[in-house]
Amino acid sequence: MNTYSDALEIKKEEFTVAKSLLENDQDIETSSLYQRSLQRLNELNVLNISGTFVCIGCGPLPTTLLFAQKTFNIERLIGIDNDPLALDVAKNVYMHVSNQQAEFEESVSYINLDSNETVHFFIANMVKPKSEVLKQVWHLASNKSIVIVREPVVQAGSQWEHISDKLDAGEWSVAKVFRQCLYFGSRSVLLFKSSQLRKRA
Ligand SMILES: C[S@@+](CC[C@H](N)C(=O)[O-])C[C@H]1O[C@@H](n2cnc3c(N)ncnc32)[C@H](O)[C@@H]1O
Repeated sequence: MNTYSDALEIKKEEFTVAKSLLENDQDIETSSLYQRSLQRLNELNVLNISGTFVCIGCGPLPTTLLFAQKTFNIERLIGIDNDPLALDVAKNVYMHVSNQQAEFEESVSYINLDSNETVHFFIANMVKPKSEVLKQVWHLASNKSIVIVREPVVQAGSQWEHISDKLDAGEWSVAKVFRQCLYFGSRSVLLFKSSQLRKRA
């Protein structure tokens, strides 16, 4: 099982790759970290995603954003990271590699969405706390939304992905959904339509 420090190591490695991309103009394709991540993301290329795509936990190496921009029919691409440095690096790398439009914010609560906009969400590995993030996403998702929860680095009960038993009723239902995600956790990518999320709660 991975640990909290493993998660920090991965983030550190992402910062290192991002730095050499920006400073030495290294090709992102030559990075094994990028290739590893891309391999998993390729499972998603069967999805028919169009419209708005939000990646929560997009930095520092914005692999998911770059993948989404290339693979899906995206009109609006939004990267979220609550670490301002990771967000800034993700923005620079994204622009450097793709030169396409994208928006970057520190929180989903800063995004302006039209009521008729269908938004798809990707919750990256190492995003915490998953129950809280799922709750935020749940409010913004419609029945047409696809919510992708990437396999957590550490299982529930650990310091990293802990889901408290003291959550109130509303949060508890989301926590239950997340337990369900963990139940199917042998897959690296978990896909749930928000309608299914609602049904499970
Ligand atoms: C190391 S990355 C993994 C994702 C990878 N860069 C990608 O493209 O899929 C995880 C990022 O999630 C961010 N993060 C963790 N919890 C978060 C939260 N609640 N909201 C937004 N970002 C979060 C971390 O700051 C970190 O930069």
